[in-house]
Amino acid sequence: MKYNFDEEVERRGSYSTKWDCGSLLKEMGLTERFDGSTIPVFTADMDFHCAKPIQDALARVVEHNVYGYTAISPHDTPEYYDAIINWFKRRNHWEIQPEEIVYVNGTVEAVKQAILAFTKEGDGVLINRPIYTPFTSTILNTHRTVVNSQLINSDGYYTVDFEDFEQKAADDNTKLFILCNPHNPTGRTWTPDELTKMAQICEKHHVLIVADEIHGDLVRKDTIFTPLATLTGYRSLITCTAVNKTFNLAGLHATNLVIPDPGLREQFKNSCGMVLPSPFTVAAVIAAYNEGEEWLDQVKEYLDDSIDFVLEFLKERMPKVKCRRPEGTYILWMDFSAYCLSAEDIRRKIYVDANVLLESGPQFDSEFGEGFERICVPTRRALLNEAFTRIADQFEGL
Ligand SMILES: Cc1ncc(COP(=O)(O)O)c(C=O)c1O
Repeated sequence: MKYNFDEEVERRGSYSTKWDCGSLLKEMGLTERFDGSTIPVFTADMDFHCAKPIQDALARVVEHNVYGYTAISPHDTPEYYDAIINWFKRRNHWEIQPEEIVYVNGTVEAVKQAILAFTKEGDGVLINRPIYTPFTSTILNTHRTVVNSQLINSDGYYTVDFEDFEQKAADDNTKLFILCNPHNPTGRTWTPDELTKMAQICEKHHVLIVADEIHGDLVRKDTIFTPLATLTGYRSLITCTAVNKTFNLAGLHATNLVIPDPGLREQFKNSCGMVLPSPFTVAAVIAAYNEGEEWLDQVKEYLDDSIDFVLEFLKERMPKVKCRRPEGTYILWMDFSAYCLSAEDIRRKIYVDANVLLESGPQFDSEFGEGFERICVPTRRALLNEAFTRIADQFEGL
């Protein structure tokens, strides 16, 4: 079946965080303007209809019309586990055993539960800034200590500062590393060599790795994503997988952890207790992994083209904006610093005058994030064009 991602999908009135909840966004300090003409392209959430097999599977749940407690287990519902296992075997040559899979209702929740299960108050949690904002807030909200190993920015291409990374990992207080691969917001998809080095350093210094790989299915056509678990035998590894980003199912909170080590797995489960999915979540995960590949292939092609479209637009109309083609994710990390404007001036021009809602650099990096803006591009291209035209008009002649 051919999907049309140029179709206008009305999301207002559907309890959409980004389209309907302006006062919440204002409360969160993301913007002071939100109205009927705001273009919200700040969050990693697609404005596209889902794959037909997922829609059909969810319709069957509605048809049954019973929404009681729902559970999964390798013995009772092997089809749930097979769907996940076959997906990663087929696409990433990753062999997962059913018992290694642990359902959690969301990836940020999974990271939080791992922090609570394996560290204590005051312990250090290592991250690489600029980084997805909730990692920092989760570390702080659980009263742990942020240990940042700043990525090196070479003309918009980000790499790990391995010397610094090892120094931070070697600190006795550092207990856990949150790996983000592909990396939000820089779009880096770490190479096997980079991943192996990070894992070796963590293993040497007994640092648990929580690998958030939920953007792994959304890499560019010419990029290969490698799950860390296929490269290392290090047992202190928890991988977060999810249909949430891949199939635009974030509202169903469908995260599946892979925890190969039985001791680690038990400790995690004992700490966070039994987490039950909704019947919609179970149906969607099975349908997505078994029947969603055709949709995913098409959406990836559309996203690749949208990213090229934006880069071309910037080259033509805003050549001062520095922006690399991300290897993975549908996120662009744009450097406006060549305009020599204050962060506040940049913000006002975009968020208030152009009325386009992005996410500002300091959210991802309080120290070096000024002058950066992050956009998520999974919306129809005509709207993306309007968003960038409005922004470019504000920076015309500067
Ligand atoms: C790297 C990363 N991790 C986690 C999340 C949130 O995932 P979830 O909705 O499963 O909590 C996002 C969402 O943008 C993300 O980019």
